[in-house]
Amino acid sequence: MFQGVLFDLDGVITDTAEYHYLAWKKLGEELGISIDRGFNEQLKGVSREDSLNLILAYGGQTDVYSPEEFAAFAKRKNDNYVEMIQQISPENIYPGILKLLQDLKKAGVKTALASASKNGPVLLDKMSLSSYFDTIVDPGSVAAGKPAPDIFAAAAEQLNVPVNACIGIEDSQAGITAIKASGALPVGIGKAEDLGSDIPLLPSTAELTYAYLKNVWEHKNENTHS
Ligand code: BG6
Ligand code: MG
Repeated sequence: MFQGVLFDLDGVITDTAEYHYLAWKKLGEELGISIDRGFNEQLKGVSREDSLNLILAYGGQTDVYSPEEFAAFAKRKNDNYVEMIQQISPENIYPGILKLLQDLKKAGVKTALASASKNGPVLLDKMSLSSYFDTIVDPGSVAAGKPAPDIFAAAAEQLNVPVNACIGIEDSQAGITAIKASGALPVGIGKAEDLGSDIPLLPSTAELTYAYLKNVWEHKNENTHS
């Protein structure tokens, strides 16, 4: 059976993926770059700096700004995002997540937060979820962000369990790629058109139960797509 579960945060534990999108959209508008939800799928899971680079490239503005301007844009997006998340409370935890965390704790399965977000610890605090995580990976401590496997590998290491004895849960393309590359077993929250049809997928966290994860683990060597 699996020994650890490695959680993404934004879009898995709560709806903050939407706030990241709105904050990037606003910054994009200020720069004359219009981004939509389709393009945003490429930003999900990706670090603040890498996201800004992707947006600038999308708008044909690569290398237009100085490092100081770049840093100021990233800060402006984050200030706007941080303002949006102030009201987050335990009521904003996605359906099923608290029960899953409780069940994993009871079962002795270790849990890690493997979020690219520097705002992760604050968000867990606001939702009163910090005590459910055995470890939180500092995204600044890993060499490469998602889609590189580093953060999931570090999460398993911090839990002191083999990464191939872990399940990773993600809502992003970059995150699923990262989990696959790490050797953990991916479970996606979202649509096959965004995340692929070669992994176990759930439309929402409402169905993300400990029983579901056990079932996925037991059948991991079978072809999972429908
Ligand atoms: C990821 C989000 O969890 O964190 C991305 O999916 C975001 O959208 C990234 O860019 C970095 O977050 P932050 O809060 O450090 O800017
Ligand atoms: Mg996410």
